[in-house]
Amino acid sequence: MTIHIGAAPGDIAETVLMPGDPYRAKWAAETFLQDAKLVNEVRGMLGYTGTWNGHRVTIQGSGMGMPSLSIYANELIRDYGAKTLIRIGSCGGMQDKVKVRDVILAMTASTVNSPSSGIFRELNFAPCADWGLLQAAATAAAKRGSATHIGGLYSSDVFYDERPDLNEQMVRHGILGVEMEAAELYTLAARHGCRALAVLTVSDHLGTGEALPSDQRERSFGDMVEIALEAAFS
Ligand code: HPA
Repeated sequence: MTIHIGAAPGDIAETVLMPGDPYRAKWAAETFLQDAKLVNEVRGMLGYTGTWNGHRVTIQGSGMGMPSLSIYANELIRDYGAKTLIRIGSCGGMQDKVKVRDVILAMTASTVNSPSSGIFRELNFAPCADWGLLQAAATAAAKRGSATHIGGLYSSDVFYDERPDLNEQMVRHGILGVEMEAAELYTLAARHGCRALAVLTVSDHLGTGEALPSDQRERSFGDMVEIALEAAFS
């Protein structure tokens, strides 16, 4: 048991999928895992452990934003021995070629600021995905026929952004999408020798203003869970 996770030692698998929304963790565990058992409900940040094709998996909500994800990822890695952490979530599309419903596999995650910025000071650390996971996810996504983009992501500190110039620079530099968690996950994984990846569905588009209707969100979320599970165990 840690400050924010009530699971008993051994209740958390080495492979953890991390959606931002705790109810997505519940849905994914009930839909894709066998024998899913609730292992955390502290602060309503639900976590479940079960098996997928015989492999033990935990699906633990991360909350929104890097400070929240950082709490859960730190405790999962340092106290429960998690080794592979895959964020599954949504992002805003930033390039014309990126369409709503497409999948983005984040090779890198740029930030203005993250909970880890303090330790890097003047250094611009480049948070990047685990290559083996990224390659396996690309193969899994191709097999499913999902329209997929692989490249840079922008992990923003804010959803209600008052600095449109930052988004403009990200678009100008080829960044595929914006979300709020991946850079800290990649940085923590690097620090602790773990594997990390972010698999995102484009839920809205900053250029066109298009947004995925809520009845279609579940299906595209399911695609991401399957891509993440296949990547983790391939
Ligand atoms: N900004 C930040 N995070 C997001 C967005 C966005 O536009 N869409 C989905 N997650």
